[in-house]
Amino acid sequence: MVELAPAKINLALHVLGRRQDGYHELDSVVTFADIADRLELLPSSQTALEIIGPFAASLAADESNLVLRAHALLAKAADEVGRKLPPVRFRLEKNLPVASGIGGGSADAAAALRTLLREFSIELPAARLKQIALQLGADVPVCLAQKTCRMRGIGERLEPLQKLPYKAAVLVNPGLATSTPAVFGRLGLAKGQNHGEPLTPEDAAAWRNDLQQPAIELVPEIGVVLSALSSEAGINLVRMSGSGATCFGIAEDDEAAQRIAHSMARRAPNWWVRPVRFDC
Ligand code: C5P
Repeated sequence: MVELAPAKINLALHVLGRRQDGYHELDSVVTFADIADRLELLPSSQTALEIIGPFAASLAADESNLVLRAHALLAKAADEVGRKLPPVRFRLEKNLPVASGIGGGSADAAAALRTLLREFSIELPAARLKQIALQLGADVPVCLAQKTCRMRGIGERLEPLQKLPYKAAVLVNPGLATSTPAVFGRLGLAKGQNHGEPLTPEDAAAWRNDLQQPAIELVPEIGVVLSALSSEAGINLVRMSGSGATCFGIAEDDEAAQRIAHSMARRAPNWWVRPVRFDC
């Protein structure tokens, strides 16, 4: 059993304010790219996780890993409906950079939930599944849906969106991790404080990422990536995804995306650069 965990891209991420519980109220447009971590499920007498692939060294395979936490939470929920979730061995091929704003850990957790539910034919009430997803992380519900969506609340309110005009793109990560709480914290919002305006799904020209500036202040290399992408011919739009540091450039077409990716890789050999297509 192999399940793909595709990169999540925030085409827009408006922060509307900070709630009393400290979380931030978001209004985001999320899509997925055709590049993914790969999660394999193997029979085993004990639940375990093995991590392979280019970014394997960047994260621990212990019980703090979202894949194992997803298994544990699902086992508890399965008990509640009179089912037993068997132990499994996960093999995770980590192809996406870690802590990089493209939802790697969340996508892995969602892939674990999807594959376990399917493989063991476990049926849970939709609300219970959503609760588990949200408990694993604010981005996990959208990664579970794996569809282009408008995402609101802290990540729990999802609305599928019509096809978007974007397709070919280039992803660039400067090889530096950002801390999501630190980036949100840099906005400096007090509990209960309002911030930016909601987005209009039909008005893509007015979309923004409110975390981009705070992330640049913490990791200035993000600004360098954005300027480099903007200076390329054939780029229509440049923005950071999530809380960074991965940035994307929307290209005119696949050929432009390939050319721009080559050029970006030549500029900085230590940057992670991938031409991709968005699912829209
Ligand atoms: O839910 P997740 O683990 O992805 O969030 C990481 C951190 O990012 C949270 O602990 C919180 O500090 C911040 N966050 C937030 N508002 C959100 C999502 C995340 O403040 N909507």
